[in-house]
Amino acid sequence: MSREIRLNAFDMACVGHIQHGLWTHPRDQSARYGELAYWTSLARTLERGLFDGIFLADVLGAYDVYGGNADAALRNAVQVPLIDPVMLIPAMAAVTEHLGFGVTCTTTYEPPYLFARRMSTLDQLTGGRIGWNIVTGYLDSAARAVGLQANVAHDERYDFADDYLDTVYRLWEASWDDDAVVRNNGVFTDPSRVRRVQGVGRIKMDAMHLVAPTPQRTPVLYQAGASTRGRQFAAAHAECVFVNGTSKPQVGALVADLRAQAQHPLRVFVGATLVIGRTDAEAHDKLADYRRHASVEGALAHFSASTGMDFETYEMDAPIQHQTSNANQSNVEAITTRAAAVWTKRKLIDSFILGSRQPPIVGSAATVADALQSWVSEADVDGFNLSRTVMPECVEDVVDLLVPELQARGIYKTGYIPGTLRDKLFGHPRLPETHRGARRAK
Ligand SMILES: Cc1cc2nc3c(=O)[nH]c(=O)nc-3n(C[C@H](O)[C@H](O)[C@H](O)COP(=O)(O)O)c2cc1C
Repeated sequence: MSREIRLNAFDMACVGHIQHGLWTHPRDQSARYGELAYWTSLARTLERGLFDGIFLADVLGAYDVYGGNADAALRNAVQVPLIDPVMLIPAMAAVTEHLGFGVTCTTTYEPPYLFARRMSTLDQLTGGRIGWNIVTGYLDSAARAVGLQANVAHDERYDFADDYLDTVYRLWEASWDDDAVVRNNGVFTDPSRVRRVQGVGRIKMDAMHLVAPTPQRTPVLYQAGASTRGRQFAAAHAECVFVNGTSKPQVGALVADLRAQAQHPLRVFVGATLVIGRTDAEAHDKLADYRRHASVEGALAHFSASTGMDFETYEMDAPIQHQTSNANQSNVEAITTRAAAVWTKRKLIDSFILGSRQPPIVGSAATVADALQSWVSEADVDGFNLSRTVMPECVEDVVDLLVPELQARGIYKTGYIPGTLRDKLFGHPRLPETHRGARRAK
């Protein structure tokens, strides 16, 4: 088989995730995000399509940069209302056997001790199918919500996250020996095989982990840092990295840099939005239909929060100037210092095809498969993080139309391999010895 393509579903426990306005499409069911049956049905469909996982994004604040308030985000259901994604995972795990679950949690607002127990619980309940998307949080609104004046500065958030990671590694990897639970002669756990561990750097903690070793111990680590500091962090910790971008050479250079910096194997997933039909013409008709429901205001509200720049105040044709951002630096750079041409608000709006800045790949299964293959060969990515359009039909199109085409080309699995999420991605259940988490926890 030539290089296998891996698929992740990219989702969020809300109505509008990446593509905004599509909830107004008559067939869209994303407003059912509060029903367990919606998620369990989705999980079953993804497992039928042999997806590696469903990956749930999360933010802890509202998007209130555009116009200086959250009105546009509320009107357009831009990641608000938003429920806690962690709660959905046990329900989805109960109706599947292999599907992995990546969940986003921030290192900035919660003590590592509490967080580590929640992840261990999920790893236990899912039989080792949990992954963690490590984020540092980019919203001032989230910082204010937990009592801070404003968000911690960008690079400092990553410095703190390094200490946070080194601390949770100790809880997951070093607090309990594999054979600590003996259940023999009236002894459940041998106390000599369990120890307290201490926080690292700025983190004050002195505790034993409350959970006995779970199938993976440390969840599979995902990260999406794209700035220089973010990439340094990703290379140090992440086993799977999410990247975004429309230029294959640019994404390829980013991937090469990440692989060169990492001291352990990396899987890289590039973000993609697919609109698939039985023919190219049908797919283009579908895109035209979806487009009528896309929301420019929603897209602007999201992009303003991502960049920390209030696009409501911009003139339509004025060049967008670089600003130092405490939010996602790479998003600012993409339309300023790293952009091939000058961006204006008008050009930005024109680029919001389905309510986000991610241009869709449109066509029959064969056309889309060609496009995905060229990404893999030219940008050296391992797979795709598929954002949703009209739910759940966009997922059904992938499973029913694209997956059989990829399988016929010999570039997609025809069954899952047994074991944990890490087994499926890397062939072993625990962190490799070369990983910082395994080394630092010693
Ligand atoms: C595919 C993808 C998913 C992301 N999901 C989240 C998320 O759920 N929550 C969040 O706070 N940030 C999320 N981010 C933002 C990243 O954590 C990061 O802040 C961003 O890529 C910019 O990188 P930088 O922090 O190095 O500037 C995501 C980024 C990407 C590319």
